[in-house]
Amino acid sequence: MAIRKIRTDDDEILRMKCKPVREINDSMRKLVGDMFDTMYESGGVGLAAPQIGIVRRIVVIDDTQGNRLAMFNPVITAAEGEQTATEGCLSLPGYQGEVKRFKKIHVEALDENGAPLSFDAEDFFAVVCQHELDHLDGILYKDKAENYREREENE
Ligand code: NI
Repeated sequence: MAIRKIRTDDDEILRMKCKPVREINDSMRKLVGDMFDTMYESGGVGLAAPQIGIVRRIVVIDDTQGNRLAMFNPVITAAEGEQTATEGCLSLPGYQGEVKRFKKIHVEALDENGAPLSFDAEDFFAVVCQHELDHLDGILYKDKAENYREREENE
């Protein structure tokens, strides 16, 4: 396990469309371990591989409400409703903004063992999933945000 450097701001890797993972092997599981370590070290609730310079479709999430998982090649297969929440991103330190997202989504992916994952997410968990999956296509929340701004010290 290791803490990786988080790419920030105008780093061009953050704008790349990530490639699917073909084989989920030990090196992929080690990468996922590093992603969790890096996310926890930074106090984040999600991290996508391009944020540590890996242009592959891998996401880790721990929403601190009981949803902790790693996803390979995740896809949103259904979506409904609407919600707006304040978001931030480890790759855009010191900023925040309000983003309109789907309220409820269905996600399909592979887990760390290559087994199929299929689940519904709603509310905050759905926000985190949508934010992280956007990273895999080079999309940052600030592209969609209203009132993108510097965070206040106490927020
Ligand atoms: Ni982010």
